[in-house]
Amino acid sequence: MSPLFLSLAPLRGLTNALYRNLYSVHFQGIDTAISPFINTLSAKQISRSHIKDILPENNHGMPVVPQIIGNDPAGFIQLATTFHDLGFDTVNWNLGCPAPMVAKKQRGSGLLPYPGLIKAFLDDVIPRIPIRLSIKTRIGREKKEEIFNLLPIFNQYPIVELIIHPRTGVQMFSGEVDLATFEECLPLLKIPVTYNGDIFDYDSFINLKERFKTISRWLIGRGVLSNPFLPGILRSGEENIPQPVERFKNFHDDLFEAYRAELSGQSHLVDKMKSYWLYFFRSFENGETFFKKIKKANTLQKYMEIVGKFLGWDAIWRP
Ligand SMILES: Cc1cc2nc3c(=O)[nH]c(=O)nc-3n(C[C@H](O)[C@H](O)[C@H](O)COP(=O)(O)O)c2cc1C
Repeated sequence: MSPLFLSLAPLRGLTNALYRNLYSVHFQGIDTAISPFINTLSAKQISRSHIKDILPENNHGMPVVPQIIGNDPAGFIQLATTFHDLGFDTVNWNLGCPAPMVAKKQRGSGLLPYPGLIKAFLDDVIPRIPIRLSIKTRIGREKKEEIFNLLPIFNQYPIVELIIHPRTGVQMFSGEVDLATFEECLPLLKIPVTYNGDIFDYDSFINLKERFKTISRWLIGRGVLSNPFLPGILRSGEENIPQPVERFKNFHDDLFEAYRAELSGQSHLVDKMKSYWLYFFRSFENGETFFKKIKKANTLQKYMEIVGKFLGWDAIWRP
């Protein structure tokens, strides 16, 4: 059996360096993380603030593959070269972002209907970057068939990994993942494939593992956000976690304090923590009722009161 390789998916605003560092302190099981996307720039100089999320001095604990979004070869080469100079060995190209504002500029999933543009981009970029290229894609922008025009193109290049999230861009995150289309892609690819999408628990993972026997690399986003013990569970098969609420509380409190030190303004801090609770609440039996309350918390004091009571007394971990 091939060994399990688990990557943390990029979730912009959530799986940034601050989260990744604290995750590594409190939990185990992630082999590497893809960073949330960084835009290509037309500027001559790349500022440190533009790439602060991936700067080695800001990252402790898990290896990171920086992700770039853009359709401009010169900007991509410049960023990829900068990442190489910082010591990274792989960079990831985002061909999946579904946001309409991004896609309409032919970036992210907006490039998928244009195999010619993708080929021209790769022709231009690949000989000019001193770093390995991985790609993260959806199966199309509008239609799942789009992927089949792209696979023969990807096969022509030394791409080290193709991460496939089997939804179309217009689907955003709704509807089912299209496992049949993912399955059809596999024999057509000469590149190592990573599966991504809707791994939320041990059972869903085992079903995928049984079905896709040649896949050993898995990228997981919302499942880890909701249940940070998930990578450990997928590795061990042991779903009973000792003292999960206490351990989760320690993680939450560290995350809260780290954001408190970083963000200016109490409302920014409360909003940021609420954006995590959109995922966290799913791991608690009584999470939904709690989440309704936390959504209404509009001051820092209220947030601390509600979360303190929940994690201190009321929370019941969903086994
Ligand atoms: C809030 C949010 C932000 C995301 N940001 C990125 C991003 O920066 N780059 C990217 O490639 N995918 C991004 N994604 C997509 C995820 O990486 C992943 O492909 C998707 O959530 C499906 O995997 P999952 O079901 O394991 O979460 C984002 C998804 C969400 C929900």
